[in-house]
Amino acid sequence: MIRELKWKDMDDIIRNYYSFYDEMENENRDLGLIFYRVKPDYPSEVSWFSNLYREVLKGDALCFVAEEDGHVVGLCDVHSNRPGSEVGHVATLGIAVAKEYRNRGIGRSLLEAMIKACRGKFEVVTLDVFSSNAKAYELYRKIGFRENGKLDKAIKRNGRYYSEIKMYIDLAES
Ligand SMILES: CC(C)(COP(=O)(O)OP(=O)(O)OC[C@H]1O[C@@H](n2cnc3c(N)ncnc32)[C@H](O)[C@@H]1OP(=O)(O)O)[C@@H](O)C(=O)NCCC(=O)NCCS
Repeated sequence: MIRELKWKDMDDIIRNYYSFYDEMENENRDLGLIFYRVKPDYPSEVSWFSNLYREVLKGDALCFVAEEDGHVVGLCDVHSNRPGSEVGHVATLGIAVAKEYRNRGIGRSLLEAMIKACRGKFEVVTLDVFSSNAKAYELYRKIGFRENGKLDKAIKRNGRYYSEIKMYIDLAES
């Protein structure tokens, strides 16, 4: 089930976020999410979630979650780049699905719901994707995102560099 974010989702979302750290550290060093060098503590996560929730209430961000078996297993958020400014019509997207729930169409459903909701609210949606993250890249292309440049050495993880591809969708054109 794809639905809007609720306050009660906080624990699930923080749990999922910590599981991505475990995944990156123990199973997939190349996981295509950006991590802090030190895992943020729980109060920092509560503060992050509160900010996200406030932005959604203010209308400066949109957030959809995927719920399975009564728990949040995926999240997609879009934030206005600088609300009320000359770049406020441009928004940046992030998405992650819990490992056990990938490749079941949840990511695609979240993205489709999000792009639909962005229409009439934002004009351009951008994102950054690891160039090594072929699956996410292809999914974004299928949804309608186009490539718009690449930054080599964008990410430095354990001494190794990863490049990042910039993508965008112009909602007036697609
Ligand atoms: C990227 C991510 C959000 C996609 O969500 P998902 O639920 O696994 O994706 P879906 O099952 O909806 O769709 C996967 C699509 O990719 C395709 N795919 C799978 N593996 C692929 C590969 N190696 N290369 C190209 N396409 C691939 C599938 O065929 C499917 O396409 P379809 O919808 O046309 O059938 C999810 O895998 C994830 O959270 N990954 C870890 C975090 C991450 O990389 N986030 C993105 C940051 S930019």
